[in-house]
Amino acid sequence: MNPVKVGLLGLGTVGCGTVNVLARNGDEIARRAGRGIKVIAASARDISRERNCDISDIQLTTDPREVVNLPDVEIVVELIGGTEFTRELVLQAIENGKHVVTANKALIALHGNEIFEHAQRKGVMVAFEAAVAGGIPIIKAIREGLAGNTIQWLAGIINGTGNFILTEMRDKGRDFAEVLKEAQQLGYAEVDPTFDVEGIDAAHKLTILASIAFGIPLQFEKVYTEGISQVTQDDVSYAAELGYRIKHLGIARRANGGIELRVHPTLIPHRRLIANVDGVMNAVLVKGDAVGPTLYYGAGAGADPTASAVVADLVDVVRVMTSDPENRVPHLAFQPDAISDLSILPMEEVETAYYLRLQARDEPGVLAEVTSILGEHGISIEAVIQKEPEDGADVPVIMLTHKVIEQNMNQALARIEMLGGITDKVTRIRVESLK
Ligand code: HSE
Repeated sequence: MNPVKVGLLGLGTVGCGTVNVLARNGDEIARRAGRGIKVIAASARDISRERNCDISDIQLTTDPREVVNLPDVEIVVELIGGTEFTRELVLQAIENGKHVVTANKALIALHGNEIFEHAQRKGVMVAFEAAVAGGIPIIKAIREGLAGNTIQWLAGIINGTGNFILTEMRDKGRDFAEVLKEAQQLGYAEVDPTFDVEGIDAAHKLTILASIAFGIPLQFEKVYTEGISQVTQDDVSYAAELGYRIKHLGIARRANGGIELRVHPTLIPHRRLIANVDGVMNAVLVKGDAVGPTLYYGAGAGADPTASAVVADLVDVVRVMTSDPENRVPHLAFQPDAISDLSILPMEEVETAYYLRLQARDEPGVLAEVTSILGEHGISIEAVIQKEPEDGADVPVIMLTHKVIEQNMNQALARIEMLGGITDKVTRIRVESLK
């Protein structure tokens, strides 16, 4: 049988990785898919640039629209990134009756509802395994492997760059900016690295995971998003003293009254497996009612790991492209007419425990005032560390609290920051036991 013909949009890190994996594992892939898979055309901004992949028998163009409109192309693989132009390209590919594979988390998080609706109408597949956690087959695991469960919660380290930075800060005391630069050189970071360090990339991925876990529409705008740029070396060390590690987590949880959707730095007990996921590696913990907790671990970024997910999607598409569209696995795991309108909880209504770091004057009564305000807002303290002052300097006071509704904590912190004995903004980092 003739190989399936693929058109590639983008020949960057992941594009070249995909060409390489298809070449290296061509025979194994054909044995699995039932047909060979061949890239016949590709677009790139600069087609004369030297690359780490063999593109000698691929038709090249600088215009991705040409690839999308080539009659011979059966599957379009979108690896350009960005959301507006790629939305147009993907919608056009679908309109042309082509299946789509994409690694573009921002595109799916922002425009997935529209794209899947269009694909449904046209009877084509849009596969996006590479969009979340790089090479880890987390989409397939949740959508198919855990299909018998009611998913209760999931929590993931889903931005490799952020995890790489936090790990280097903890282990080597390295400077934030220097580690970020290294992540950019290694091809892990987003084109705009604020997407990594301010949590936007993780929020895109969490949007997708929550949708397939709970059968809700993609709702990126409702994710509470906080990055790692405010995490200090001191916080990393105090957390360690208390038996915790700081990780940047995406958390989605079924709670009373709605779904929690939040991305923020989080203290996790150091003995949890996920607390020991370091460097650019990603991991996602998923708790199903039947299976209990399950953990998925692997490389979250990079050429070959991401290509692994892209090629797996290609194999999936090839296997079922001749089947009845109504009987395929639904794009968002649940049948399109069974998507639920469960509401997303505002962050003020989320309940978590907290790590607090206060700068206090070394005077009698300051701590008593702080604890009394916390008590008035129903906040119970689990642990306190007070550091020795250095010659008249302020004293750092570190507290761990029991769980409390975020709104109560906001009110208490606003009052604490007004106290004369507290000299700086209070640092707060949420704490999750992930039991
Ligand atoms: N910038 C992303 C990360 C790439 O660091 O995880 C993979 O999505």
